[in-house]
Amino acid sequence: MGYIRLGVNVDHVATLREARKTVVPDPVHAAFVAELAGADGITVHLRMDRRHIKERDLRLLKETVKTRLNLEMAATDEMLAIALEVKPHQVTLVPERPGEVTTEGGLDVASNVDEVAKVVEKLKSAGIEVSIFVDPDTSQVRAAGETGAEAIEIHTGIYAAAEDKETELERIFEAARVAKNLGLRVHAGHDLNYKNIYPVLKTPGLEEVNIGHAIIARAIFVGLERAVREMREILNACS
Ligand code: PXP
Repeated sequence: MGYIRLGVNVDHVATLREARKTVVPDPVHAAFVAELAGADGITVHLRMDRRHIKERDLRLLKETVKTRLNLEMAATDEMLAIALEVKPHQVTLVPERPGEVTTEGGLDVASNVDEVAKVVEKLKSAGIEVSIFVDPDTSQVRAAGETGAEAIEIHTGIYAAAEDKETELERIFEAARVAKNLGLRVHAGHDLNYKNIYPVLKTPGLEEVNIGHAIIARAIFVGLERAVREMREILNACS
C-alpha cells in the first residue's frame, strides 16, 4: 500500500462559529493547526446556503493552506464561478439537497454525464484537479470516468451505517478496482472514524481520505493537534 493522504474537513469549526454568528473559532486557524499536526490537505464544503464555510474562509484558505485545498461543491453555475476564481487545488463535486444535515449520498453522474462533463472540463482547464463523490456503485464509477474527472471519492457512509459491513466493504473495493482500471485515482470519505477506518484503508489503490466530523468531535476533548495526529498515525500504520 502507498501513502494515503489525510484531508481534514474543517466545516464543523465554521459550524461552531456560526452558532453564535461571530468570528471564532476560525476554520482558517483550524487548518493551520491541522497542517502542523500532519494533515496532507484541508477540505471545505461551500454550501449554497453558506451555513458554515463562507467565501471569506475559502479565499483565506487558498492564501494560507500550504498542503492542498479541496473544495467540495455542487455542480452549479454559481459554485463553478467561485471555484474558477479562487482556484483550489482540487474540487470534489457533490450533490446538495437544501436542508440536508450532511451530504446524503454520491452524485448521480450516470444520469447527468454530459452536464457533469462540462463542469469537469471547465475546472480542469483552469488547472484544478477534479474528483467526483460517488456511491460504491460500478455504474456511477464508470460514468465518473466518462466525464473526464481524474478521481472519485467513494462514499463510505453506507458502509459506516451498515450492519453487514463485509458486503459494503466489498462494494467499496469493487468500485475502487473499476476506478483504477479506468485510470481514476481513488479517494474515500464520509462518516469515517478512528475505528471504522481500518478496513477501508485496504481499499485497492486508495490515495486520499477526507474526514471531518470524527476529527473535530475528538478535538473538543483532546485538542485538534492530537486528534489529527492520531488519525495520521492510523494511516501511517496501515499504509
Ligand atoms: N467527503 C465528502 C464528499 C463530504 O461531503 C463530507 C462531509 O462534508 C466528508 C467527506 C466528511 O465527512 P465526515 O464529516 O462524516 O467525516
